[in-house]
Amino acid sequence: MSEKQTTLVLIKPDGVRRGLVGQILARIETKGYLLDDIRMVQASEEQLATHYHELVNKPFYPGIVRYMTSGPLVALRVSGHRVIEGVRALSGATDPTTAAAGTIRGDYGYDTGSDAIENLIHSSDSPQSAEHELAVWF
Ligand code: TYD
Repeated sequence: MSEKQTTLVLIKPDGVRRGLVGQILARIETKGYLLDDIRMVQASEEQLATHYHELVNKPFYPGIVRYMTSGPLVALRVSGHRVIEGVRALSGATDPTTAAAGTIRGDYGYDTGSDAIENLIHSSDSPQSAEHELAVWF
């Protein structure tokens, strides 16, 4: 049965700053997923509070806001069969120091020692999150 899905991907400000937009996008496209929409955004605190509504009370949340507003990010709408699971697999584990080699975070990310984990990419973790998050950025 078809499980065609749509997901939200953010190439975070460190990815833009380091010139990795093309390489990160290439991994997603090369895997076979379809880029449906793309935009560069300077995130507002309101957008971040909606996007990260489950994290706003965490001690590291102010660090996330500093990180995610430190420059523009690139939002992608990506679709494909099982794309949510697939882009999460391409992205790798949250901590780039231990993310597996071969993943985006494992290959390009490093721990800068800042308050928030800088890990280059966000991708939705469920169809419900994707719907919620796509509405924030598109
Ligand atoms: P989370 O949804 O747990 O991870 P993922 O991005 O892998 O789905 O957390 C969202 C972001 O919050 C994560 O990418 C980086 C940041 N974060 C921290 O800065 N410190 C932390 O201790 C955690 C758990 C997350």
